[in-house]
Amino acid sequence: MAEEAILGYLEKNEEILDTGKFAEEKGISHDEIVNVIKSLNGFRLLDAQDIKKERWVLTEEGEMYAKDGSPEVQLFLAVPPEGIAREDLQKLKPSIYKIGSQQAIKNKWIEMGKLQVARKVDHVDDKVRDSLIQLQNGEAIGSGDIDGLKRRKLISSQIWKGYSVKKGPKYTPKRKKVATDLTRENLQRGDWKEIEFKEYNFLAKGQPTEGGCLHPLLKAWLLYLLFEEMPTNNFVESSFWNFDALFQPQQHPARDSHDTFFLKEPSTTRTLPEDYVERVKQVHESGGYGSRGYGYEWKREEANKNLLRTHTTAVSSRMLYALAQGTFAPKSYYSIDRVFRNEAVDRTHLAEFHQIEGLICDRGLTLGHLIGVLHDFFSRLGMSKLKFKPAYNPYTEPSMEIFSYHEGLQKWVEIGNSGMFRPEMLLPMGLPEDVQVIAWGLSLERPTMILYGIDNIRDLFGHKVDLSLIKRNPLCRLGI
Ligand code: PHE
Repeated sequence: MAEEAILGYLEKNEEILDTGKFAEEKGISHDEIVNVIKSLNGFRLLDAQDIKKERWVLTEEGEMYAKDGSPEVQLFLAVPPEGIAREDLQKLKPSIYKIGSQQAIKNKWIEMGKLQVARKVDHVDDKVRDSLIQLQNGEAIGSGDIDGLKRRKLISSQIWKGYSVKKGPKYTPKRKKVATDLTRENLQRGDWKEIEFKEYNFLAKGQPTEGGCLHPLLKAWLLYLLFEEMPTNNFVESSFWNFDALFQPQQHPARDSHDTFFLKEPSTTRTLPEDYVERVKQVHESGGYGSRGYGYEWKREEANKNLLRTHTTAVSSRMLYALAQGTFAPKSYYSIDRVFRNEAVDRTHLAEFHQIEGLICDRGLTLGHLIGVLHDFFSRLGMSKLKFKPAYNPYTEPSMEIFSYHEGLQKWVEIGNSGMFRPEMLLPMGLPEDVQVIAWGLSLERPTMILYGIDNIRDLFGHKVDLSLIKRNPLCRLGI
């Protein structure tokens, strides 16, 4: 209706000077007119210019006086020609007594004695009320009157916004409905030839693009950045660094293809540090450094086999070897990256997962330091219920498995493994004899599951992950 009224009016008239007046004349709400004008202006059917006007509107008090009369007149009328006792007048007009008498005295309409109130004039006009009613009706009043009403807070100013409107370059008296989509029906009926399509608005803002989000796996472990990060950007590793350097014998079941993914292409590594390889062979075969070794025939071919690293300790062994090549200085390293195991996938196991590896090398380190570091690490993450269980690793002695209590599953869950690296591992590398290395390897997924109350590992990692989980989870719950 508003659209027809506007377009129709402009067919016969040059201009709508003031949409406010126009709305009133047509009996259409101004808001509706404004909405239609905005849309028609957007399509350039109209050319609309803003108009702003300062308008006076009545405050609540102003409205009241417009209806019942100003308090001074109300009060004056309550005073009979023969006068009245103050007390009685107050009882008669309790709500406006004070303000009414003030104004009436100021206007010299009444006289207030100690006890009596008397009229000073016979008749009064309610100019205040008249002005208020005039403003209510949109009529103009003198600026002196405006000031008076403003001072008494009976009116307040409001900016009124409207338009003056002319025909736009695309003006038509009746807007055709333009199509926004080409439909199957349009094609079948053939009416696509006649349809007028809506023009593309290349200036319209598109859907906001979605930004990247951090996976909770990453979020949970950002705190470990106090350590130096190890370079873990090689998923493919040789058996040598993954196993042999770690004093893991070549017959160890973990080195079986049932547990480890070996590479077909390239199946072997090309270079290894030969003199170090020789010392590793020696320590496996016959020991040294106070060890008896395993007493088996160590095979180079076995060490050369490429695999997908089964733990990030492969990287630790490379780092420690590199560290041993220079003058020793205490170090702490960490890494967070992917490892691979040929495992049956279930609620708590994946064939690909992530490990956090940490190690500290220094003189005089003990198992107590390791326990302390692990307690500190997990309690920062809100996991203070920890248990350590003696364990065995070929490369650590002593070794401890780490368990944490999962409130959701109501049981202890293994989250990692740790220990002190053996001399059979450290000394062939060339590290000083009095240097100890405490180290731990943790599944990244397990503690994250505990922290986030996730009881299926596949909800956290892999193709079944719900991406909205990643977006929903807050960055940090860590207390550093
Ligand atoms: N590499 C071990 C694992 O994969 C973890 C570990 C790291 C244990 C360092 C001891 C020392 O479970």
